[in-house]
Formats: sequence, C-alpha cells, structure tokens
Amino acid sequence: MDRHFTLLPGDGIGPEIITQARCVLEALARKFGHSFEFTECMIGGCAIDATGDPLPQATIDACRASDGVLLGAVGGPKWDDPSAKTRPEAGLLRIRKEMGLFANLRPITPFAELLDASPLKREIVEGTDILFFRELTGGIYFGPSGSEDLPDGGVRAFSTMVYETSEIERIFRLAADAARKRKKHLTMVDKANVLEASRLWRKVCAKIVAEEYPDLTYDVVLVDAMAMHLISRPTSFDVVVTSNMFGDILTDEASMLPGSLGMLPSASIGAQGPGLYEPIHGSAPDIAGKGIANPLATILAAAMMLRHSCDMAVEADAVEAAVQAVLAAGYRTADIARKGEPSLGTVEMTDKVLEKLA
Ligand code: IPM
Ligand code: MG
Repeated sequence: MDRHFTLLPGDGIGPEIITQARCVLEALARKFGHSFEFTECMIGGCAIDATGDPLPQATIDACRASDGVLLGAVGGPKWDDPSAKTRPEAGLLRIRKEMGLFANLRPITPFAELLDASPLKREIVEGTDILFFRELTGGIYFGPSGSEDLPDGGVRAFSTMVYETSEIERIFRLAADAARKRKKHLTMVDKANVLEASRLWRKVCAKIVAEEYPDLTYDVVLVDAMAMHLISRPTSFDVVVTSNMFGDILTDEASMLPGSLGMLPSASIGAQGPGLYEPIHGSAPDIAGKGIANPLATILAAAMMLRHSCDMAVEADAVEAAVQAVLAAGYRTADIARKGEPSLGTVEMTDKVLEKLA
C-alpha cells in the first residue's frame, strides 16, 4: 500500500525523535512491502524564525494532503517572551483547528517492565489502563480572550470557556463508542459545581448516555476530585472524556503513572481526513541536541498513526510489540533508567527497536 505522511519535527528534541520514528516507518514499509513517502514541513518556533508564522500555509496544505501527520514537539525558551507577537504553541493550536481535530486520544497504559519507574507505588499503578478523550478545538483555549489596561495602572485579562452542544456531543460519542469496545466504563470529568459550560456538558452527556449508551457504566467526576483519584485509584477508570483544558492538565498528571512522559503517544482526530499523531511530551529544550531523548513515545505515535489513519493494525501491533520487547530486554533511555542503570541514546534505542522489528 502507498501512504504519504507529513512530518512536522518542530523544535527542541522534535527533529531528533522524528528522524528516528521515520527510520522505524521506513523499516516497516520494507518489512510489509508498502511504500511510504514523507514530506517534512515546519511548525512552531523554527517556522517563526524562518517565516514569521508558526504555521505557514505550506504546512497546512501538506498536512491536509497526506494520510497522516506525525509531529515532534513545539516551543522552547527562545520563543518564550510573553510580549512576542506570536508563539510556537499558536501553530499547534491552529493546526488542530485547521484540520478539525476535535478529539485528542491519550492512552495511559503502563508497560509492566517500567512499573518501578513510576513515582507511585507499584500496587497502585499496576493494572492501570485508561484512555483519555480530551476535547481539542473548543473551550477556554479558543473562547473570547483579551486584555485591557486599567486606569489604576493595572491590566485586566480574560479567557472564556465556551462550549456548544454539538461540540460536546461529537467528542462524547467517540469516547462512548471506545468505551463500548473496552470495559464499558465511561467517566466524564467537569466542574459543574461552578462552571456554566460544565453544566451544559453534564446535561448533554447524560442525555446521550440515556438514549444511546444504556449498556455503559457511566459516572461523572469533578475535575479536582479526579486529580486526586487519578493517583489514588487509577485502576478504577477505563475511558475518560473531558474538556480541553481539564484534559490538558489531567493527562499530564496521568502521564506520570507509567513513570515517564517519554513513553506516551497521542492521537488527534476529526470526523474525517488525516489525524495528527505526536508524543505527549514537549520539546525538552534542556536535552535537545544531546542525543539522549527517548524516541519511544514518537515511535508509538507512529504506530497509532498506522492503526487509526491507515488501517494498518498488523503493522501497528508489530511496532508496539518491538517496543515492548526492547523494554523487556532491559534497554532504557536516561528518562526511564533506574539510578545507576546504564542508558542508551536516542539512536541506539531506535536501533534496538529496529532489531526487534527485523
Ligand atoms: C498539549 C500541550 C499543548 C496544549 C500546548 C503546547 C499548547 O500542552 O498538547 O497538551 O496545551 O494543548
Ligand atoms: Mg499539555
């Protein structure tokens, strides 16, 4: 099969890890007799430096024309000036919007081999298997915002959480469908005791469950309580669905359950068209260029891309099995190595994955 992917390396460790994920995809194409083509485009800080725009039109066009988009990471201290005209993150937010990627899937499934890398006790984490559905193109990230100078010399700034019924319905149905294929347990997280927008979520979701998903175990949890439950009893969740900002925060928290952000992929998908796949970790400017970044989250993101955007479940399974085998064989990058344990660099770790694939 012929597939065309757009690669968006971005900033920081982005280029290093995307190069490695590409090697894995190329090896896979050889192994399974596919032909994969790649187009590399700019996004984030590097795009600001080159064009003044964190998301040049050429990038949008290439993404739309491909079968799947694999992104490294964006941002870094170089572009952190709060008074700058634009920021690398704006490119990420816009590509989500431009491609209609309203659902962000973040699986939190610890590898058995890494349980001891988790800051939490093994008996709490063992058996965790959560699939987050974070709403990605609405809410406080995209609501009216602004700032104005005040007569007293201060400034007033505001960001607004806005949701419409249809935005809630579409992400909720995706999550409910996924729950149906898993343990049939769906948790919706909101702040309905305070926020009007959350009260709409509650109403809309309750109606859909009652009318369309009576077979699911459904519960609602307030976001502050959820922050607590995630680290006290993570095994009691299956599929979790929530709004944009709550999902942003909770998935970073949940990412600590498996021990390292460096292991977690995510998929952003819409109603149709290509999806965008990325590691959930950031651009890690502190280790950029040192060759020690963990490439596994990006490699696993490439596997998600094959599964969700290319109907290549067998190929995706092969990648995931190879990663698992590498971990089982005891290979570690610095972020997942135990104190005093030897660790591999970005390229060496990928080579181990390629060996297992071959
Ligand atoms: C994420 C990131 C982004 C977000 C940032 C970089 C804009 O934290 O994908 O979770 O907040 O959505
Ligand atoms: Mg985040």
